[in-house]
Amino acid sequence: MSLTQRVSIIGGGGNVGAAIAYSLVVMQEPVEILLVDVSKKMAEGQALDIRDAAHLSPTQCRSGEFAEVGDSDVIVVTAGARQSPGEPRSNLIDRNYKILKSIVEQIQPIKPTATLLMVTNPVDILTSIAQKLSGLPKAQVIGSGTFLDSGRLRNYLSRKLNVNSQSIQASMYGEHGDTQFVGWSVATIAGAPMLNNPQMANANLKEIEDTIAHQAYDIIDAKGSTYYGIGYHVATLVKCILENGRRVYPICTYVDEYNTYLSYPAILGSGGSSPIHFNLSDEEKTKLKICADSTKAIADKY
Ligand code: 2OP
Repeated sequence: MSLTQRVSIIGGGGNVGAAIAYSLVVMQEPVEILLVDVSKKMAEGQALDIRDAAHLSPTQCRSGEFAEVGDSDVIVVTAGARQSPGEPRSNLIDRNYKILKSIVEQIQPIKPTATLLMVTNPVDILTSIAQKLSGLPKAQVIGSGTFLDSGRLRNYLSRKLNVNSQSIQASMYGEHGDTQFVGWSVATIAGAPMLNNPQMANANLKEIEDTIAHQAYDIIDAKGSTYYGIGYHVATLVKCILENGRRVYPICTYVDEYNTYLSYPAILGSGGSSPIHFNLSDEEKTKLKICADSTKAIADKY
C-alpha cells in the first residue's frame, strides 16, 4: 500500500527521533516515516526495529537519504548534541547551529508546502535560525517549544488537584529553557480560573514553576537523556499537521508582536502555525518580553 503523506525525521537514528516514529506507529497514523541520520547504520537499525511494530498499524517506516527529505510534508529535526547532566539547553547553540546549517543545505530543495518542525535544543533559537536558513515562510517553520513542559505542568496539576489532565488548561510559555514561566492568569480547569480553585489557595506557584522548568534536568541526571516525553508530544504535533487538526498548542511559533519566535499558543494545521491572541497579566507579559528579547538577540548573531 502506498501512503500519500511522508514525514522525515532527521536524527532518526537517535532516541528522540525513534521515540517520535514509534509514537506515530502507536497512534496508528497512516503516514510513511523516513528515518535519516549521519549514522546510516543506526537509522537502519531503528527503522527495522520500528517496522517490527508498524505492521500492526497503518504507519510505514524505513531509513532514507538526506536527498529524499525535501519532498516530505513534515520534516522533523532532532539531530544535534544533547545536554550533559546539569548543562542548560542554551549551551548547545554553537554545536547545534553547525549541525542544523549542514542539514538544511543537504535537504534542499524543500517542497514549498512542507512544515519544518524543530526539536533540537535550544529549540526556540534554532527554530528562528532554521527559518532563515530554509527560506520557508515563517508560519511553516515551528518548534516543539514548551509543549512538553506544558504537558509536565498539566500532569503535575492533575495529580495535585485529582482532575484529569485533559480538563486542565495550563501552559508554560516563553522558551523551552530556564526562563520559561506558567501563564497562571489564563490557566483554567475546564474554563474555571485555576487560581480561584480552593485547592490552589496555598500553592507555592513559584515552586511549581521551578519544578516543571527543572524536570528535564532531573531526568537527564537519572538516565542521561529524555526521549519518551518529547517523542509523544512531537508525534502529536506531526499528527495535527498531517490531519490539519487546527488545535491550539503552546509551541515555538513566530509572533509578529514580538518580532521573533517564542513558545506561545498557536493554531496548528497543514499550513503550519498561527499564534492566537490572548491576554497575559502585565507581569507575565514582561516575562514573555524577556524571553523574546533574549531569543532574538542570540538568533540574530547567526
Ligand atoms: C526535555 O525537556 C531535554 O529538552 C529536553 O526533555
